[in-house]
Amino acid sequence: MSNQVFEAVRTVMAVREYSAKAIPAEVAHRIVEAGQLTASASNVQPWHFVLVREREGLRKLGALVRTGPYTANAGAAVIVAYEKEKGDFGISDASRAIQSMMLAAWGDGVGSNWTGFAGRLDNVRVEFGLPDAYEVLAVMPLGYPKRKVIGKKKRKPLNEVVSAERFGTPLS
Ligand SMILES: Cc1cc2nc3c(=O)[nH]c(=O)nc-3n(C[C@H](O)[C@H](O)[C@H](O)COP(=O)(O)O)c2cc1C
Repeated sequence: MSNQVFEAVRTVMAVREYSAKAIPAEVAHRIVEAGQLTASASNVQPWHFVLVREREGLRKLGALVRTGPYTANAGAAVIVAYEKEKGDFGISDASRAIQSMMLAAWGDGVGSNWTGFAGRLDNVRVEFGLPDAYEVLAVMPLGYPKRKVIGKKKRKPLNEVVSAERFGTPLS
């Protein structure tokens, strides 16, 4: 029996090249809604998501995030921020929201990726008007993949990272 959620997890890949096809507003809104719906520690929801769709903003993001210049060519992007005072919980909650958004996007055929990391994106926070109380965790470019994405993952073998009952006992 097929499990669509597992299939999304199995096939989703980091997508860094996007076609020119526009992302409909409805699809973009559903992606940020997936972030908003995510569970967080004590249900604090210490996050803010900025959906950027205008080319000027996307170009700025491509210039500001050293490890994600391709955001300049994306169909949209989400700036993911969390309340700084929430510390590690903020990072954990916002990371989980990113995964929700990546999978929701993938369900609509939209590729995405995680770019940048907390501590290195204050330029993005300032440029996009987020208050000082926030830390930007990541910028997520979104777009229909330029070429077909083949879900061939490079991952450590299952038995290297999973044990049964006790560390070191292989899963049978
Ligand atoms: C926390 C985190 C930070 C990442 N940062 C970047 C980044 O700055 N730029 C980038 O192009 N990819 C980034 N990635 C994407 C990973 O490099 C990519 O997911 C990984 O190599 C596995 O490839 P796959 O997702 O296609 O299987 C990041 C991923 C994570 C989870």
